[in-house]
Amino acid sequence: MADPQIGIYGLGTMGAALALNLAENGVEIAVANRSTEAIPAFLDRAGPLAARIATAEDLDALIAALPRPRQLLAMIPSTAPMDALIDELIPKLAEGDTLIDAGNADFHATRARSAKLAEHGIHFVGLGVSGGEEGARRGPSMMFGGTEYSWERLAPMLRAIAARFGDDPCVAHLGPDGAGHFVKTVHNGIEYADMQMIGELFDLLETGGRDVGEIADIFAGWNEGPLGSYLFEITAGLLRRTDSATGAPILDVIQDSAGQKGTGRWTVIEAVKLGQSATMIEGAVAARAWSAERDARRAGAEVFGSARATVELEVETLEAAARAARVLEYAQGFRILAASAEEYDWPLAPARIAEIWRAGCIIRAKMLDDIAGAFAEGTAMADLMRAEAFRETLETGIPALRKVVGTAVAAGLPVPVLASALAWFDTMRTPRGTARLIQAQRDVFGRHGFERTDREGKGFHGPWWD
Ligand code: 6PG
Repeated sequence: MADPQIGIYGLGTMGAALALNLAENGVEIAVANRSTEAIPAFLDRAGPLAARIATAEDLDALIAALPRPRQLLAMIPSTAPMDALIDELIPKLAEGDTLIDAGNADFHATRARSAKLAEHGIHFVGLGVSGGEEGARRGPSMMFGGTEYSWERLAPMLRAIAARFGDDPCVAHLGPDGAGHFVKTVHNGIEYADMQMIGELFDLLETGGRDVGEIADIFAGWNEGPLGSYLFEITAGLLRRTDSATGAPILDVIQDSAGQKGTGRWTVIEAVKLGQSATMIEGAVAARAWSAERDARRAGAEVFGSARATVELEVETLEAAARAARVLEYAQGFRILAASAEEYDWPLAPARIAEIWRAGCIIRAKMLDDIAGAFAEGTAMADLMRAEAFRETLETGIPALRKVVGTAVAAGLPVPVLASALAWFDTMRTPRGTARLIQAQRDVFGRHGFERTDREGKGFHGPWWD
């Protein structure tokens, strides 16, 4: 067996899937797991690929098996266990080695870990990996944050295992330290918004009197057109599934409380810290949080009654509204990325980010090809909403979105993502808004000062009362 090109420590779901993907694509790998019990089952799963996989007893043996400079992929939780591993590895690794964290990490932690390891000449890569287990096994989309040195060493194997859009492997070096994990976090924020948007469309269709089978057909139809995307595809598929125990549609037996591991929340927090506000993502995070409060919602219905009334909306109207909302959700995501590029001095290339999201990842969608094109033609990262390529989608979609949101509001159906999309769009085309009133209020109670429309400078005050 040739020398392993990379070591993988941690054979959980994602670690095992990435390891098998690497082995299948001709990469010599060595693997280890904290408990050796996982190894035989992994090798069993590997089948003939096992011939390309060396196994190591423990972390020390794994490190010893790797030629220098080493490449070590740690597939363990990106929280305290990653810090503990780094402390353990510092005396064991050497200058020029690279440690990779391919989990969903808080990019602040990735930056701190990169700086800490850099003091020892060790490179740290924050690799955002999207596509779930199936993606990791068959071809994920990967967002690389780290040094040029590590990218040069790792790019050939990452290109080999990445999802492909045509011939283009969906992996890119996006910037140093936390850049990859940050872009992955925003990817997840968009994922939250898109999933919630689909949930709201489902609600509107169901309240309109359609059964899950009809809704599945509608989503499958949309999936053939400009709304084509992995999330519409799986939603159409899952709506058709029945529960084996009861024979009922599977959605009938699933509790309406959504989980969340935290990346959506991070996106919102970071957006706000950057002076941005991704209201569609906020709406989605809020909807998940409220969904968890089942008892409170039940109590609310007892006190106020449930306001839900039947809605009547054309399928075409809903589709046009969804297209507009999806443009706006990407536009909000890219605005956060634009702000982060400025704040952290990252060379984020929006066209490339859109390109590597076209296959393999959870938010892959036909629209991303047009988004990549719009950025390639010079649309600024923060200005996607105004890109020529989406002018028509918005011109026809916004009236539809207005009708959808208006109808939902009148019927008592909560549509936090769709409603946020519209409020944001309308705000961003209002040249003179109500903030003049806020400024006056701030000056009244705090002498915060305001700018005037007719003079240069800041710090003007009003003729307020004593
Ligand atoms: C991906 C996904 C993945 C994420 C899950 C669960 O891109 O493959 O974003 O990384 O962990 O979707 O996320 P939540 O538990 O927060 O919904």
